[in-house]
This record gives sequence, structure tokens and C-alpha cells, in this order.
Amino acid sequence: MKAIALTRFGDADVLSLQELPDPLLGPDQVLVEVRAAGVNPVDYKVRAGYLQELMPHHVPLIPGWDVSGVVRAVGIGVRAWKPGDEVLAYARKDHVQFGAYAELVSVPDRSVARKPSTVDFVTAAALPLAGLTALQSLKEVGTGPGDVVLVHAAAGGVGHLQVQIARELGAARVIGTASPRNHEFVRSLGAEPVAYGDALVDAVAELLGGDGQVDVVVDNVGGLAFEQSLRLVRDRARMTSIVEGPTALEHGVANTWARPNAEQTQWLVDLVAAGKLRVEVQQTFPLAEAVKAHKVLEGGHVRGKLVLTV
Ligand SMILES: NC(=O)c1ccc[n+]([C@@H]2O[C@H](COP(=O)([O-])OP(=O)(O)OC[C@H]3O[C@@H](n4cnc5c(N)ncnc54)[C@H](OP(=O)(O)O)[C@@H]3O)[C@@H](O)[C@H]2O)c1
Repeated sequence: MKAIALTRFGDADVLSLQELPDPLLGPDQVLVEVRAAGVNPVDYKVRAGYLQELMPHHVPLIPGWDVSGVVRAVGIGVRAWKPGDEVLAYARKDHVQFGAYAELVSVPDRSVARKPSTVDFVTAAALPLAGLTALQSLKEVGTGPGDVVLVHAAAGGVGHLQVQIARELGAARVIGTASPRNHEFVRSLGAEPVAYGDALVDAVAELLGGDGQVDVVVDNVGGLAFEQSLRLVRDRARMTSIVEGPTALEHGVANTWARPNAEQTQWLVDLVAAGKLRVEVQQTFPLAEAVKAHKVLEGGHVRGKLVLTV
């Protein structure tokens, strides 16, 4: 099969289109003919070699943890899926080697959800990792009816879904940080936009009045945004960061590491099919142009998601 792979870690140019053996299928896995693969910041972090202490990596390594496609074959233990089914998945496995930037990918059946016919493959591939992160981070801190929620990087892959899911979970108000060019976009998702940077704490106080504090913070940025959030949240137990791991815990803040979850993926994609969750895809690239997609994403200002089409 054709796949985008690397044999050494480094910048985007270590990726190249290669002819590699088809992935072998385990007993509890589904082999998916990839139609589209979502591109996530974790893909360039894997590519750069930053995650080698967290998970075993093997080369040649095919990146990509988000997939939509059609089932070609199923492992001997799989009952829920059959060839021809249209699916999507957060396809992360314990070992990093056979990812979704390929014509075929093997996925544990516990991660697979059914793609509704009204949701296209590109949208479906953009959803799982970012959608699960958004949902699991909000649940981590018990987001629910009446909450005032602050979402950092509200125009980004995770943030634009978090804003909408927070509303779906009953949040009374959502405030989303973004640069001014994204404020209309963030407003259209159901959040009140504020500019990020040094003036953030004052801007939030002005928006809210009262003590200027929020009930829930989801930090998708870290650094300054994390520090400011410590002052903005009423109770640190209701703040989580998806980027500051040990630092978050040191400050009594939760951290969220998204886990594959078929049931939640199904809930998310059904919400999309029902017109209640909008997945913004800024741009698609053919598989062969994965290097370009990585360079755009690493620029740090994508609105919504990037997707590779296969
Ligand atoms: N723990 C986990 O399981 C997990 C899961 C998913 C992602 N992550 C991590 O979370 C981070 C965000 O992921 P993502 O997919 O949402 O990234 P992304 O889509 O690349 O984020 C891009 C967005 O960030 C905004 N942005 C840039 N600098 C900002 C700042 N200083 N303050 C506020 N917004 C800023 C940009 O908005 P403007 O253009 O308006 O500046 C842009 O819309 C990444 O580091 C990723 O690796 C972790």
C-alpha cells in the first residue's frame, strides 16, 4: 500500500510517500480502507520524536490517529463490523507505527464508530481525536448546566468543538479566546470571543462583571494562558489542561489525555449528523501532500481542522 512514513524523526521533510506492506490484522482489529485522515498537532509531535518516552515507536512509522473509511476485513474476534461498513475512529494504538496516513490502517474494534451516511468522509476524519478531547476534557471537570466556561484557542481543532459541546452539556455562557480575525467565527459557534495575550484577565473581568471569574476552564494552549487561568477560575478543581501535564497537577489542576472511545465517538458523529455540532475543516490536502499540511498546522493558526484525502 501507499503511505506517508518516516524512518527518522525531525521536521516535516522527514515524511515521504512510500510503498509499504499492508498492515497485519489482529484478532480484535478492523482493517479500514482510508478515505480521509485527520491531521492533528500530535502528528507533528510524533514526527519530531517528542512522544518517544510516552509510547513505543517503530520505524518505518506512519503517522495519523484520525481515520474515516470503509471496512475491508475484520479480525477473527470481531462481531460488530463487516466489510463494506463506513466507519470513523480515533485510531491510536499502544505502539506508534501503523497510522492513518495510508491507504489502509488497522484499528482496534473498541475504537470504531459508524459513520452516518449524511456525514462525509472528510468531516468524519476531522472529528474523533479533537472531538473526544473536547468532550473528555469538559467531562473531566464536570461541565454542566449553568456553568460559565472559558475555552482557550476556541478557533482551533479542539477548541471550536469544545465551545459547542460545552453548550450542548448545558453551559450558560462560553467565553473563547482567539485572535480578532477569528472572533466572528467563535461567536458563530456560540461563544463570546476575547483576544488572548497580556490583557486577557481584564478582558474576561469586563465581560463578566462581578468577581470576573469563571466556573470551568479548559486550557488548550498552556504557558501564559495556563497562568492566567489559575487566576480566572473560581475553583482549580474545575480547570483542566490538555497541554500542561505535570505542571497542571502541581497546581491542583486536572489534565486530560484523550482516550479512544467508540461510544463517545458515536455520540459526537451523531450530533454532527443531527446538525448540532459543526466541524470546521479549513483545508484538505491529498495524502501525498502531508508535508504541506504539517507545515500549515505547525504555523499554529489553523481555523478548525486540516484533513488528508486518500
Ligand atoms: N491531551 C490531549 O489528549 C490532546 C488532544 C488534542 C490536542 N492536544 C494538544 O492541544 C493543543 C491544541 O490542539 P488543537 O488541535 O486545537 O491545535 P490547533 O488546531 O493547531 O490550534 C490552532 C488554534 O490555536 C489558536 N491559538 C494560537 N495561539 C494561541 C494563544 N496563545 N491563545 C489562544 N489561542 C491560540 C489559533 O487561533 P488564532 O489563529 O486566532 O490565533 C488557532 O485557531 C496542541 O498542543 C495539541 O497537541 C492535546
